[in-house]
Amino acid sequence: MATGCGQRETVLQQDAATYPEAVHLYQNGCITCHGDNLQGGIGPNLQHVASQLTPAQIKHRIEVGSGPMPAYAAPGDAILTPSQIDALTTWLSTKK
Ligand code: HEC
Repeated sequence: MATGCGQRETVLQQDAATYPEAVHLYQNGCITCHGDNLQGGIGPNLQHVASQLTPAQIKHRIEVGSGPMPAYAAPGDAILTPSQIDALTTWLSTKK
């Protein structure tokens, strides 16, 4: 962690080196609703999502969506490939 610096890194900045694909996908598709610190907004806070949901449940949520959240496994503008959904699931499953 940098010290003596006025700005704190966002969760995305902290995780970009370890989970580059997931962070990139999140920046493109999820940040508008879940925030640059996973703090939520239109969608819920995801900072501790893995304490509430299993990896399978996280993956399912991304695949089928809910309410305003798109179903990312369904054909359409928001579609992600299975490996992209896996990358997001692996990353979010570390958020306990
Ligand atoms: C248009 C806004 C929107 C976008 C874009 C969006 N979400 Fe969501 N997301 C939501 C809302 C709203 C919920 C809560 C739905 C519910 O509870 O029925 C949610 C729920 C979730 C949940 C379950 C959280 C919980 O505590 O139950 C996960 C995981 C999630 N989103 C991940 C993602 C990921 C990953 C992306 C990008 C690929 C994404 N979301 C894009 C709005 C959005």
